[in-house]
Amino acid sequence: MKRMLSACLMLACGLVLAASSPSTAVLPNASPHQSVGTVNCASSTCHGAVAPWTGSTVQQNEYTTWSRLDKHAKAYAVLLNAQSRSIAAKLGLKQGAENAPECLDCHSHNPPPALRGERHMLSDGVGCEACHGPADKWIRSHTVPGTTHAENVANGMYPTEKPVEQAKLCLSCHVGDNSRFVSHRIMGAGHPRLSFELDTFAQLAPAHYKIDDDWHKRKGDYDSVRLWAIGQALASKNQLDALADPKRGRDGLFPELALFDCHACHHPMSEKKWTPRLGVGPGRMRLNDSNLLMLRAIVRATDPNGANAFSDQVTQLHQAVAGNAAAHGADPLALASSLSATIQRYIGKLEQQRFTPALQRAVLAGLIDEAKRQQFSDYAGAEQAYMAISSLSSSLAKQGALGGAAGVADMNRKLAALRVTLANEEAFKPDLFAKGLQGLSRTITPQVN
Ligand code: HEC
Ligand code: HEC
Ligand code: HEC
Ligand code: HEC
Repeated sequence: MKRMLSACLMLACGLVLAASSPSTAVLPNASPHQSVGTVNCASSTCHGAVAPWTGSTVQQNEYTTWSRLDKHAKAYAVLLNAQSRSIAAKLGLKQGAENAPECLDCHSHNPPPALRGERHMLSDGVGCEACHGPADKWIRSHTVPGTTHAENVANGMYPTEKPVEQAKLCLSCHVGDNSRFVSHRIMGAGHPRLSFELDTFAQLAPAHYKIDDDWHKRKGDYDSVRLWAIGQALASKNQLDALADPKRGRDGLFPELALFDCHACHHPMSEKKWTPRLGVGPGRMRLNDSNLLMLRAIVRATDPNGANAFSDQVTQLHQAVAGNAAAHGADPLALASSLSATIQRYIGKLEQQRFTPALQRAVLAGLIDEAKRQQFSDYAGAEQAYMAISSLSSSLAKQGALGGAAGVADMNRKLAALRVTLANEEAFKPDLFAKGLQGLSRTITPQVN
């Protein structure tokens, strides 16, 4: 919770429904194609211009933006710093972090050696091909006038414009998936806790592309709220899949601790902070439910008829994880798998979902309701709620649905106050956060023009 909290109400977005078709694109790190290297994109007549070109469909200065401003370009360099050296030493990685697949898989584009072209360099960090896919089969053809985006994708370009595919890509490194993961062992050695929200981070990354009319024409629609919602659903699913996977969900006698709320364990014993919010007794482990909390509010607003069943499924999982009598001995891993399947169905629905201002307000109201029911007593949940509110309200502001300049100023003031309550993770006071959130009720009620 450092820079991500600076997201404010000035972000750009469109709002029409995407004509997306389900796709089974392979992530760049699992592609069968060869990676040619970021340097191939860097010429000043390709993507290395110093300023955006006028009259071109794309900016042409993407490489310049990435190399100068984007943290992804520095992701490999991080592996050489003192923090990484200390992590590697504690983990016993003798070859050093910069040579360890455990680190390179996320801090660089690390395809198998046979698929690295002559100019591919691990030291380029998270370069163009880490997100846009190995370019061997499209590097030449994609510059030929008349080539369509669909043709590029057929040649191995990754469809970053599709919300579900974009979410899969970003979350694979920022939350972890079955190909890469920051385990509690890595965190115990000093890796920062991963905290991510797709829409906020998409806005935070220095923009090397512009969602304009021309983009819509070539790539379809863009809805920042839908991106947020899909990000929440997929993050929940990734977490449940990791929990249910015998290879990733176990560590000796224990489950993988990175899937649980960090401060369930990491807080002073004198601090009595147990609350009954999950329906499980004191002294139990609790899953990190920050994404599931967001998803519950999304389901309640978009699928009122299915909301209770979804909520029950989440509660059953919590109770089974805690070994509660109410769970009647249900297998938590089987419940995690079935909840994951439910979420997969919701992802399909969300892909087609149009988030009208009324629906966005309903989600916001749902989050405020969760605050009334003391559901944000864990820091990670509160942090997600903050990013959600910031994301939803900036979308409402953009549509003029937040009561004009005065409404936007009011929201910005309240968001700033809410943010103060999140400044120090270790000293987080849930009551202050909940109070601040409830103070938003009036700001989001429909404005009569
Ligand atoms: C699953 C992907 C993943 C793996 C595996 C991973 N990291 Fe990271 N790491 C990240 C992400 C994402 C961030 C950025 C977190 C943020 O700023 O939100 C990060 C941040 C860091 C930071 C802090 C960087 C900064 O700018 O403050 C260090 C240091 C680091 N990682 C080192 C390592 C080392 C060493 C390894 C191997 C033992 C490793 N990482 C493995 C994804 C990963
Ligand atoms: C962290 C992931 C990531 C990295 C790294 C990255 N991009 Fe992108 N890029 C995106 C996303 C997301 C979009 C927006 C969706 C889209 O247009 O497909 C995008 C869009 C683009 C576009 C399309 C703009 C348009 O109007 O259609 C170009 C061109 C582009 N990137 C080039 C590059 C180049 C060149 C590099 C390397 C210097 C690079 N990108 C690195 C994620 C990334
Ligand atoms: C191959 C792994 C990988 C992928 C894919 C990836 N990232 Fe990252 N991202 C990282 C790492 C590692 C860092 C940390 C780099 C550092 O600290 O220097 C990072 C940092 C960031 C930051 C800076 C965060 C901060 O604390 O300042 C943003 C924003 C970001 N990523 C957004 C995205 C988005 C949006 C996508 C998807 C379009 C994406 N990333 C895809 C690995 C990845
Ligand atoms: C089930 C309880 C539990 C959970 C949940 C948990 N941890 Fe830990 N953590 C531990 C234990 C036990 C240790 C080892 C403490 C020791 O060696 O003294 C530890 C060690 C650590 C350390 C190293 C501390 C040191 O003294 O060197 C860090 C950092 C850490 N955890 C971060 C996290 C983060 C981040 C999360 C959440 C993603 C998390 N932990 C979740 C129990 C937990």
